[in-house]
Amino acid sequence: MKRDFISILDWTSEEIRHNLDYALELKRQTKQFSCPKLLSGKSYGMFFHKPSLRTRMSFEIGIAQLGGTAVNLTEHDFKIGERESVSDVARVMSRYVDGILIRTFSHQSVMELAKHAAVPVINMLTDFNHPCQVMSDMLTVKEKLGRIDDIRIAFVGDSNNVANSWLNMAARIPLDLRIATAPDTVPDENLVAKIRKAKISTIKVTHSAEEALKDVEIVYTDVWASMGEKNKIAEREKILKDFQINSRLLKYARHDAMVFHCLPAERGKEITNEVIESTQSVVFDQAENRLHAQKAILVQLDKWHRII
Ligand code: CP
Ligand code: NVA
Repeated sequence: MKRDFISILDWTSEEIRHNLDYALELKRQTKQFSCPKLLSGKSYGMFFHKPSLRTRMSFEIGIAQLGGTAVNLTEHDFKIGERESVSDVARVMSRYVDGILIRTFSHQSVMELAKHAAVPVINMLTDFNHPCQVMSDMLTVKEKLGRIDDIRIAFVGDSNNVANSWLNMAARIPLDLRIATAPDTVPDENLVAKIRKAKISTIKVTHSAEEALKDVEIVYTDVWASMGEKNKIAEREKILKDFQINSRLLKYARHDAMVFHCLPAERGKEITNEVIESTQSVVFDQAENRLHAQKAILVQLDKWHRII
């Protein structure tokens, strides 16, 4: 049965929990240079319409460690939906590869691709979601805190694709999720309403970073202007200046709170150099866990696909 990973909501709570357990097992095996070649003979097509370091490296290396092959097309080679329709691309690619991975602007076009593809589709980031990032971050949470349920987490800054995937995660795993942002950068109210309706987590949207940070175990931030909206940076620097993660603000969190950032970071804007380099920062553990969590996603999707 073909399944996809376009949104955290595509998978159940049990499937997410299993993925994290399996990712830990794969991580242990990989560290011992004994990663099983579970994707031997499999091929993957990757589309990048935005820059990437972590996502591209971790997927390409992860596929190779599992014995598969990845072919990467950038926007210079090919722009989806321009030279030919998304549905034609989906059907052609499905004849060549065992999975399609895409990083692009429009979330809608990724859903369209998945609708017409006969093979699993993985969302490597759209303007709306970044599910691979948040699945991997949950692996970091699990390793660091020994649990994933009922964590107190504040996402501070622009309510972007990463924040949206945290909201989606809150409909699958119980969280105390606070989003601290300016009035002009709040998350979509329909999305917030949908997640609250799931009644799994507590969701608070506030304009006070100090209030959001009270007693949290995790402080999360990301760039103030995402890829595709870098022209908004001057405006965002004005409206989000009170949401910078700095030593003063961090004092409102638990004394041992961990600082998360999906990277790349713009030091001096959404986070200070001092905080990102501090012992509370786990940003490079997060980056490493992209590799292990995504390998588990690839193997899981392949397993499901082989079930008729
Ligand atoms: N965090 C993340 O997705 O990084 P890249 O944009 O470098 O892939
Ligand atoms: N929100 C950021 C994440 C980068 C990994 C962006 O979309 O640019």
